[in-house]
Amino acid sequence: MSRSPVVPVLAIDGPSGSGKGTVSRLVADHLGWRLLDSGALYRAVGYAAGMAGLDLSDAEAVTRCAETTKIQFRAAADGGDTRVIVNGHDATDELRTETAGAAASAIASVPSVRQALVALQLGFRKAPGLVADGRDMGTVIFPDAPFKVFLTASAAERAKRRYKQLKEKGLSVTLAGLQREIEARDSRDASRAVAPLKPAVDAVLVDSTGMGIGDVVAKVLAVVKL
Ligand code: DC
Repeated sequence: MSRSPVVPVLAIDGPSGSGKGTVSRLVADHLGWRLLDSGALYRAVGYAAGMAGLDLSDAEAVTRCAETTKIQFRAAADGGDTRVIVNGHDATDELRTETAGAAASAIASVPSVRQALVALQLGFRKAPGLVADGRDMGTVIFPDAPFKVFLTASAAERAKRRYKQLKEKGLSVTLAGLQREIEARDSRDASRAVAPLKPAVDAVLVDSTGMGIGDVVAKVLAVVKL
């Protein structure tokens, strides 16, 4: 009996600032696989909820918002970053802000919001393969993924990276403030009841503290054995 071939998934989970976003994009480009930036989905729902003036602690309202928000990913015309379109509006830049990150973290702790985003995420699994970037890719969404990485870096290093990015954008932030925010978000993401941030038992741990991006990409690619 012939079975349809299973599309391989490389799950890359870990906290914000671990370099997951950049590493996932480079690894997906290298393999010629699709990319799922699941954090962008939570950011998009948080953003849409904010635009609608919803109380982020109103679980019913934010769940309805997660069920009805239209999220599209569109390749940028100039070959730059993929654009994220939320309810018809290009919200790519707004989604990268600390405010959007905090809103995403808040709504991501609501089980029915997470449930509303499952089918959308599963739909990204298409041939020849998928790199799935998030917090629960290897544990909840794609538990059968043949390749799993948990990418970390120290909170101090992640704060330094974020500080550099935000300064380059001309934003006024302090390193100590960012490190505090990162630690608070980590502990919220790790301690929530549903899909807490934790490595899958079969994930390969990669600590990128002090490593260059090229070395991290090479380490992650070494996990993929086709
Ligand atoms: O990876 P990111 O910083 O864009 O994620 C934004 C928030 O969304 C983060 O605080 C945790 C949440 N998130 C999640 O709960 N599950 C995912 N798979 C991805 C992100």
